[in-house]
Amino acid sequence: MPATIIVGAQWGDEGKGKATDLLADSTDLVVRYQGGNNAGHTVIVGDDVFKLHLIPSGILYPHVTPVIADGVVIDPKVLLEELDGLEPKGLEPFDRIKVSGNAHLIMPYHRELDMLIERRLGKAKLGTTKRGIGPAYADKASRVGLRFQDLFDEKIFRQKLDAALDHKNELLSKVYNRLPMDADEIAEEYLGYAQRLAPLHAETSGLIHESLEAGRHIIMEGAQGTLLDLDHGTYPFVTSSNPVAGGALTGAGLGPRHIDRVIGITKAYVTRVGTGPFPTELFDEVGDRMTDVGGEYGTTTGRRRRVGWFDAVLARYANRVNGFTDIFLTKLDVLSEFDTLKVATGYRYEGEVYEHFPPHQSIFHHAEPVYEEVPGWTGDITEVDDYDDLPREARDYVDLLEDLCNAPITWVSVGPKRSQTLVRRDVPLVP
Ligand code: IMP
Repeated sequence: MPATIIVGAQWGDEGKGKATDLLADSTDLVVRYQGGNNAGHTVIVGDDVFKLHLIPSGILYPHVTPVIADGVVIDPKVLLEELDGLEPKGLEPFDRIKVSGNAHLIMPYHRELDMLIERRLGKAKLGTTKRGIGPAYADKASRVGLRFQDLFDEKIFRQKLDAALDHKNELLSKVYNRLPMDADEIAEEYLGYAQRLAPLHAETSGLIHESLEAGRHIIMEGAQGTLLDLDHGTYPFVTSSNPVAGGALTGAGLGPRHIDRVIGITKAYVTRVGTGPFPTELFDEVGDRMTDVGGEYGTTTGRRRRVGWFDAVLARYANRVNGFTDIFLTKLDVLSEFDTLKVATGYRYEGEVYEHFPPHQSIFHHAEPVYEEVPGWTGDITEVDDYDDLPREARDYVDLLEDLCNAPITWVSVGPKRSQTLVRRDVPLVP
């Protein structure tokens, strides 16, 4: 049976949890493959609103095993807080969630350094979520990280912590003029979490393969989005992991032949949090309206998101990088507010027009969007429950995006609830 990858096609916050929600009924495992608690999924089931950062949204379905795979970085305190928050809802998170021993730990000095590095960058800061994500991945690459499995072997934990902290304390005190951190205090805190977290520890790549061999369907749920990818995003204004479809394979530990579907999630417009270039960004009252109507405030940090018109150059690029089999278009309803809609079809820079992602970052930074303008529609579309009942202008808009993205738009969402997802192409949920 196939595996499906769900990937953000923009700068994150596209509504990936909603796509997982749609497919979860026919799924055995939902696997989170990268990132950490920099992410935030809001999932609405009935009258309950769930805000999840680390735990895959599959937790909401009792038949699903949520997996936190090797490529994720884990702040154990945050993980426990989320588990404790879900426990009273009867979701039995301690019995169901499986965590790879290879996932790296976010340590207190990672959080501290994230803040200090940002401060030192001043105007050039990235606007990180300050959760310690970048420093934790940097330690992983430098081979001085501590992993989830280390929590369950005190001797190894202490050894690795001492080695890492030795260097970190030099950095904290000599470069940043901060107090050094105490190894005993950190060890006491982290090893204190171990007993409660032990039941979650699993060989998750093995679980994934058992599931595939038994003919069951799995979802690989990405966090953040293509343009925040460390290798393929708008570097350096990116996160420190690989949200793209390829990252699902390395992050979870399986090969490409198991993947049958790659679903790209994109809003009907664009948002971004943090700093970095954003060619179609709106700074006027249209943008303010988009932010307010779209409720564009971060789930993790509460920051106001930057907003702009749909950018087909970026969507085409995301399609190339990920190889989408389907697109799930979200938040179409937010555009009901506007008489005229704009879509960027290319960028203009020094007299040249680029239809594809430009070869140099400076072009992207100074790109002026070439817009196609189309009429908006009138009236509320949040109650529409058949795609064909959308106003003609709304369907024309979706057709235009599909033409420009070169990938089929299969689902269109017109509101946050599960029932507000319209099927545009009648394809089986599980291929
Ligand atoms: P970091 O991942 O905290 O290091 O932040 C790096 C960049 O990625 C910043 O611009 C963040 O705002 C952005 N970022 C990280 N996670 C998310 C997310 O889940 N949604 C949107 N932006 C994110």
